[in-house]
Amino acid sequence: DKAGHRHFMAKEIAEQPVVLAEALSRYLRPDGSLTLPEPGLDFANLDRLVLIACGTGHYACHVAKYWFEQLAGLPVDIDVASEFRYREPPVPARSAALFLSQSGETADTLAALRYCKGKADRLVAVVNVTESSIARESDLVLPIHAGVEIGVASTKAFTCQLMVLACLALEAARARGRLTGSEDARLVAALRALPGLVHQALDIEPEAERIGRKLAEARDILFLGRGRMYPLALEGALKLKEISYIHAEAYASGELKHGPIALIDDSVPVIVLAPHDELFDKSVSNMQEVMARGGRVLLVSDRKGAEEAGTGVWEELAMPQVDPVWAPLLYAIPAQLLAYHTAVAKGTDVDQPRNLAKSVTVE
Ligand code: F6R
Repeated sequence: DKAGHRHFMAKEIAEQPVVLAEALSRYLRPDGSLTLPEPGLDFANLDRLVLIACGTGHYACHVAKYWFEQLAGLPVDIDVASEFRYREPPVPARSAALFLSQSGETADTLAALRYCKGKADRLVAVVNVTESSIARESDLVLPIHAGVEIGVASTKAFTCQLMVLACLALEAARARGRLTGSEDARLVAALRALPGLVHQALDIEPEAERIGRKLAEARDILFLGRGRMYPLALEGALKLKEISYIHAEAYASGELKHGPIALIDDSVPVIVLAPHDELFDKSVSNMQEVMARGGRVLLVSDRKGAEEAGTGVWEELAMPQVDPVWAPLLYAIPAQLLAYHTAVAKGTDVDQPRNLAKSVTVE
């Protein structure tokens, strides 16, 4: 049942304010304390966290690496499961390994989990399907509470994965004594504001639809982001490729001049994901480098960002103001809506893209 939407993907994008509020309420109590299912995780006594997933889930882990390292001072390794399992890396003492999977059945992720058995101190599963192999074989299961996801391209599972990882990073920061009382209060309030902000961000839909019609004419599209927004650039490019079949690539903005700038001309839209955060000035100079070469920049930012970016951008999408730490959760919305409307404009099969399966149970 698409509940009046044209596609399951559209329905699942629209559901995000509700499922995010649900996910948050399962982990964050009204008094601001966090609850983890038994046996919990002793972050104070961990030296390293290993985050393993495939596809979109890997990008959620990539965002979480910034959170765990910056908020909790906890070193994090991330990898895609297919590389991790065959590289057979050493798993250090005092480490936990976390396997993130919407379906809980992805073959490579399950194999990576089995490799870590008896090596990592604790095996953690972050899953949507709690009756899954990955959940069954882990010590600690953290459900993301996204509800059934039918669209092959992951949307609400991605943001709910981020929500659970955000709560975990907050818990780690507390356990490791990294937050002052006021920082803690600020982060909690900002996390609580997110479902409402996501609801507000969905208002860009008519604009995303208009811009999507223009993007549909492109052959190649570049996504740029810095810091916590780099994994979102990767996710935006993946989503667009999957459902519109337009070639898209993502780079960390600082990598632009190390190669990809050679691709820039007026036929390549460049989508810059840049909330007004501590790295915004750097993103502006990258945008100027693109525009100086005739590149067409679509800036996804907030009001302050749009003001400071000045003139010369091709298109803009204005997002609500958000705490920069949790911004990746909010900027998933424009990434999803741009991919969706570009695909709809091209007339592709949004819910069942060619060659893709919802659950990848073979290598
Ligand atoms: C992209 C997408 C895939 C999955 C990947 C992992 O939109 O859905 O990249 O994220 O196949 O699947 P799970 O999370 O079920 O392990």
